[in-house]
Amino acid sequence: MTGDQCRSATGAATPDEHGRRVAAMFGRIAGWYDFLNHALSGGQDIYWRYRLARAARPQPGETVLDLAAGTMDVSVELARQYPGCRVAALDFALPMLERGKVRKLSEGLEKRIFPVQADGRLLPLADASMGAATIAFGIRNILPRQDAYGEFLRVLKPGARLCILEFGTGSRRVWRGLYNFYLDTLLPFIGDRISGDPGAYRYLAETIKSFPDERALARELLDAGFARVYHVPMMSGIVYLHVAEKAGRG
Ligand SMILES: C[S@@+](CC[C@H](N)C(=O)[O-])C[C@H]1O[C@@H](n2cnc3c(N)ncnc32)[C@H](O)[C@@H]1O
Repeated sequence: MTGDQCRSATGAATPDEHGRRVAAMFGRIAGWYDFLNHALSGGQDIYWRYRLARAARPQPGETVLDLAAGTMDVSVELARQYPGCRVAALDFALPMLERGKVRKLSEGLEKRIFPVQADGRLLPLADASMGAATIAFGIRNILPRQDAYGEFLRVLKPGARLCILEFGTGSRRVWRGLYNFYLDTLLPFIGDRISGDPGAYRYLAETIKSFPDERALARELLDAGFARVYHVPMMSGIVYLHVAEKAGRG
């Protein structure tokens, strides 16, 4: 995918077209995805996913939805933190799930993590069946986001949590300057040379910059019908953990 094609994925393309392009793009970078994640975040991404899983709080015996699971780092962390739970790892890019399955799912984990190819806008899950849901660095890619919120609300049990990990804008001036340099220059440069997909990491930078800030996202979640919403900045607001609850645990 070229930079221009990626830009159109966020712009004029229909949601279905956008989805196909995003899935194809992640399919192409699947082999390098984990390495670049750890390298570009200086290893911080491991801690961010740990915090995300800790916020989910499913009950023993419940299933957790990990949407946009990619290579399943969050799914594995959920299974580790909640040994009594199962994880439905859903993503529409099959190569990402396959990569995670081969590299991370030991025999024990295979009995508790279930990778499924699916679109977040139409989940193959029963109403009120999930004890929690997570989405790490995925909601930014889904258009329109409201479709995904609607599906999260449908499949979550009453009182269960949706936990979102997503990039923020960087809350301090000094950080913001460095962060913008990183997004505009360093990230595309490194991503282009290593991932073998010129444009993929440019797309990443563009979607981060056009994503709503933490307050706008909180408003979006409340408007979608979630009852209680809060967010926690990490790394000086470069990454946010957002937690939203479905109304009423009995
Ligand atoms: C940046 S990766 C994040 C992967 C993983 N959650 C992590 O923390 O590393 C985004 C993932 O979202 C998936 N994705 C984007 N839009 C999706 C959609 N509409 N339905 C399902 N998966 C989607 C992509 O295929 C990709 O694997």
